[in-house]
Amino acid sequence: VNHKETTRKLNNGVDIPVVGFGTFKIDDKNVKELVLSAVDIGYRHIDTASYYNNEKGIGEAIKDCGLKREELFITSKLWMDDLGYNNTIKAFEKTMENLKLDYIDLYLVHWPRPLAVESWKALEEFVQQKRARAIGVCNYKKQHLEELIASTNIIPAINQIEIHPKLQQQETYEYCMKNNIAVEAWSPIMKGKVAEMEILITIGHKYNKSPAQVALRWHLQKNIIVIPKSSHQERMKQNMDIFDFNLSDEDMLSIATLEEDIRLGFDPDYIYKNGFDPKRDLK
Ligand SMILES: NC(=O)c1ccc[n+]([C@@H]2O[C@H](COP(=O)([O-])OP(=O)(O)OC[C@H]3O[C@@H](n4cnc5c(N)ncnc54)[C@H](OP(=O)(O)O)[C@@H]3O)[C@@H](O)[C@H]2O)c1
Repeated sequence: VNHKETTRKLNNGVDIPVVGFGTFKIDDKNVKELVLSAVDIGYRHIDTASYYNNEKGIGEAIKDCGLKREELFITSKLWMDDLGYNNTIKAFEKTMENLKLDYIDLYLVHWPRPLAVESWKALEEFVQQKRARAIGVCNYKKQHLEELIASTNIIPAINQIEIHPKLQQQETYEYCMKNNIAVEAWSPIMKGKVAEMEILITIGHKYNKSPAQVALRWHLQKNIIVIPKSSHQERMKQNMDIFDFNLSDEDMLSIATLEEDIRLGFDPDYIYKNGFDPKRDLK
């Protein structure tokens, strides 16, 4: 793999930009302007979800950004309340209407749940109908992937999971690499917390890069796609400016020692078993 490349091929031949723009917690009112800035800065891959309630604003940005549709890579996700074959079709139509698109580049199941297998049959149809160029999952551990793959036809193109230096997900990462499922990291810079990590600061000094840039570069060199979010243009630029340096093997190894099994989000096993209830699960 050439880590200078800004795109790579998924297991079905579709190209994906390896740095995308995350939009979780960006309000529908503000998202249009921020996505337009991101596109100006050079982002071509935008990550959203029906759960983020900002698809409409993103659709406005796509329409008005001045680029051709095929120059952009757009991802959205199926929320867990919408699982099951018929619900999935309804949810997908809603997402497409919100985004004002007639095809999407990547459609993901947002969390593993037993019913997701039924949804996957609908996702396979979206691919056949050329309304989704690629389909995948989020937050799947090895056992969830095995369950899905055993009873469906298309192997997920992507598994989008929480990964950063303090949560490296070795088992899931290796399973995905072995099965040609691309790994995409959410919270790749630990929601900004990498800025305080001494080792990353020290490594960054060698290359004149910030700790966030070191963390993002570490992902790319592990062949992981990243989708950092920022509401500030300066940081949006920084998070894209990671193609002109290479971490040494020694740097990669010292970052590998930072593993602490620390999660910022839910454990997928908890969600698989219990689903998600905002009253119970959000403090
Ligand atoms: N599939 C899933 O279940 C799932 C779950 C969570 C997230 N995601 C996706 O992954 C994306 C990224 O994850 P995330 O938003 O949780 O976290 P993140 O990208 O790791 O971090 C974003 C935070 O870091 C700050 N930041 C951005 N660039 C920085 C830099 N260069 N230096 C220092 N701080 C910086 C941002 O602040 P400012 O905005 O103030 O710059 C923001 O608070 C989401 O937006 C979403 O699209 C998916």
